[in-house]
Amino acid sequence: MSERAGSVPARRSGRSGYERLVRPVLYRLGRGDAEVAHEQTLNGMRLLGRIPAVPALGSRVFGSASARTVFGVRFPSPVGLAAGMDKNGIALRAWPAIGFGFVEVGTVTAHPQPGNERPRLFRLVEHEAVINRMGFNNLGSSALAERLAAYGDLGYPLGISIGKSKITPLEDAVEDYVTSLRRLYRYGDYFAVNVSSPNTPGLRSLQDAGHLRELLTALHTEAAGLTASGLTPKPILVKIAPDLTTSAIDELLQVCTEVGVAGIIATNTTITRPGVSDHPLAAQTGGLSGRPLAEIAAKTISHIHNETGGALPIIGVGGIVDPSDATRLFDAGASLVQVYTGLIYRGPGLIRKINRSLP
Ligand SMILES: Cc1cc2nc3c(=O)[nH]c(=O)nc-3n(C[C@H](O)[C@H](O)[C@H](O)COP(=O)(O)O)c2cc1C
Repeated sequence: MSERAGSVPARRSGRSGYERLVRPVLYRLGRGDAEVAHEQTLNGMRLLGRIPAVPALGSRVFGSASARTVFGVRFPSPVGLAAGMDKNGIALRAWPAIGFGFVEVGTVTAHPQPGNERPRLFRLVEHEAVINRMGFNNLGSSALAERLAAYGDLGYPLGISIGKSKITPLEDAVEDYVTSLRRLYRYGDYFAVNVSSPNTPGLRSLQDAGHLRELLTALHTEAAGLTASGLTPKPILVKIAPDLTTSAIDELLQVCTEVGVAGIIATNTTITRPGVSDHPLAAQTGGLSGRPLAEIAAKTISHIHNETGGALPIIGVGGIVDPSDATRLFDAGASLVQVYTGLIYRGPGLIRKINRSLP
């Protein structure tokens, strides 16, 4: 890593305790390998979630009073943890303790897989951004189903993000997604169909109208079968890339409306490098997230909202590093928002601040 720990220029006065004290320590872990800091944070959260009463107490103190119902699911706060942070659901008891109203686990795949070689996560500190090429490292959808069964009721809505295993050829992708949906159906409050990660070769071509129609039809058919056998119907959402042209988005929305998708998650990471191309790490392969994504995410959300006349609920995600970023995504048309990279730079206090800023 070329950046020095805690070397972000003070964009604002009054940095939080996390930024002054915790972050420099986290950034030195594993000789600056950002993934080591991620693993330690996740483990810390897992332990926090084990302390009796912490989750309930935390959510009372840091949560929000703006509960809302979206696609038939009641969210205690509209601020959620984005997919990729807790891929295998190891810290699910803890996230409400820092104010999250929902969590999206995954992305999981039908087959367990190690992901790409390390290092595969890079901090562009000066830009409050990261580039990742994790490649869906996860324990697989069977392992997640087992873990979720052991948790029992979490007391908040859980989204489950599903993707394609690397070893599955693109032409067999549908079966891979369907298998994971079947295994996990009873445990999720909504499902996110991830067709937008830049780190699985060919995955993003599943956003094309023809492929997407086939995939979503198969998932809805599977869901209908599971519902007929007695399970509660669950909303299925599609997570899209920020790099689609507006006409590609319009085609995708057409398919989503036809097939009866419950909502859109916008957006995943970008393969572009807006405003960061001068950074020594910008040339790393992977998806960029954090502050430089905020504007593209807002524009994408606004386009979807206008194009659908607000009929399709949107989970807005991308570049939320302070409450005003969340406000911008809500104003653009999002019903719910999610955060990932902002947590790395601003720490858990960010979620409390967003919750407090909500009308
Ligand atoms: C390290 C890392 C891993 C991610 N893994 C996933 C994933 O498995 N599935 C997914 O849908 N999105 C994944 N994302 C994307 C985030 O969910 C989110 O869409 C994106 O980072 C933009 O939000 P942010 O700017 O708040 O981070 C990942 C992001 C990061 C930084």
